[in-house]
Amino acid sequence: MPKSIAFHFENNTKQAIDPNVVRVRLVPGKESMLVREGSIRRLEVGTGIEVADMTRRKLVLVARKVIAEARAHSVQKLSVDIADFSFPHLHLKDEDFVELLSVNMELANFEFVKYKSEPKEGWKFVREVFVAGCKSKQMREALLRGQIIADEVNACRALANTPGGEMTPKLLVVGARSATKGLLVKVTVLGEREMKKLGMGGVLGVAKGSDEEAQFIILEYKGGQAKEWPIVFVGKGVTFDTGGLNLKPSDAIYEMHMDMSGGAAVIHAVVLAAKLRLKKNVIGLVPAVENMPSGSSYHPGDVLKSLSGRTIEVLNTDAEGRIILADGITYAKRYNPRLVVDVATLTGAAMAALGQRCSAIFTEDEKLEHILRELGEKSGDYVWPLPLWDEYEEEIKGTFGDVANVGKTRYGGAITAAKFLHTFAKDLSCPWVHIDMAPRMTSIEGEYLAKGAAGAPVRLLVKLLEQVIL
Ligand code: BES
Ligand code: MN
Ligand code: ZN
Repeated sequence: MPKSIAFHFENNTKQAIDPNVVRVRLVPGKESMLVREGSIRRLEVGTGIEVADMTRRKLVLVARKVIAEARAHSVQKLSVDIADFSFPHLHLKDEDFVELLSVNMELANFEFVKYKSEPKEGWKFVREVFVAGCKSKQMREALLRGQIIADEVNACRALANTPGGEMTPKLLVVGARSATKGLLVKVTVLGEREMKKLGMGGVLGVAKGSDEEAQFIILEYKGGQAKEWPIVFVGKGVTFDTGGLNLKPSDAIYEMHMDMSGGAAVIHAVVLAAKLRLKKNVIGLVPAVENMPSGSSYHPGDVLKSLSGRTIEVLNTDAEGRIILADGITYAKRYNPRLVVDVATLTGAAMAALGQRCSAIFTEDEKLEHILRELGEKSGDYVWPLPLWDEYEEEIKGTFGDVANVGKTRYGGAITAAKFLHTFAKDLSCPWVHIDMAPRMTSIEGEYLAKGAAGAPVRLLVKLLEQVIL
């Protein structure tokens, strides 16, 4: 795995005399170039736009492009003057602005190389960045804080990228334990025996077809006052989704080792809360299963008894995520939460609706919806709302069970999935948000992120923890 960038603020002689340090300059054209002037090298990075057209969204990409171009030119040491990145018309606060720079530089410096042989000339990662213009202590702290956040997002990407053969529910537990090592995060794991005792028929039903035992991972970080109600995150931890007996077609199975991305995001969001010492109580719940076809699989037509007592009529074994999340959401009740957020690579339909540039969010709380959209812009984990209207509930009425796990038509699949979860979230006595992050499971061309898991929405969850005043 690449090491994180070493940022230096002592931007003086050392850098001036080291010929390996390449100075970065932004230029308005599209092209980027490595230019030599005597013994000094300069990396000209094309922003592709005029200064006046810069937006926060574009600045995110520019910060990443600097690193992408440095790597493409095998440059390992950079120097940047943050004044070059400052666009006064954006009215960014100094700290906010440097955090944006370091987060995105670090995200662009990540690549999942764990299973690749190192080339003779070594990996092309940026090792050191000399930063000029971080005037205050607050700015320097913000820059390093951005790095802590991005390192955790990258750890989340590595976890999600791990192939299905090496990422079973038990290995996800190992991942959660090692991510929380040395931190004030308590990890508790329920196995199938404990889940049976509790009556988690949803998780157990989906897990039936797999040789791998299901695990229910609980992470607890108590940074707030003891009596303060916690924020609970529930993450979908399907370590591999074949579809089960409703087997997916070949092309659709590829990448389904990343179906635990919501769980990975929840694990690393709790870790970040601890690393940033946020004064909040945060619980992470990750039901982890493998969805497999076999002689012991759950069948279409099976009726499962969920932890809530409601029965789930399984019409399609490939709509497994919502079934395990239902038990997760019900389990959240015991914490007397002030807010419950579930995160899941839940539906291809969310991708059909929104493309791959934002996650879908669903909530009845308009204030929260507004905050999330704002924090989406701020964090770079963009989101867009879809409705939870009552009318959609008709579609998931069960015939032989209380609620069916898929809708009657193939339309609006992201919404019927959300309504299914809503059935269970209604038992909560606090606001609830569902984040369908399937659109953001993997990075896309042009965002200067390595192929594979994008690490959404860790940054958003952390911003939410910082903000939440419910
Ligand atoms: N994990 C998938 C959704 C998914 C697909 C996420 C592609 C990321 C990329 C989920 O479990 C699933 O299979 N959903 C089905 C639901 C359908 C059976 C109602 C889908 O979206 O097709
Ligand atoms: Mn599925
Ligand atoms: Zn799935």
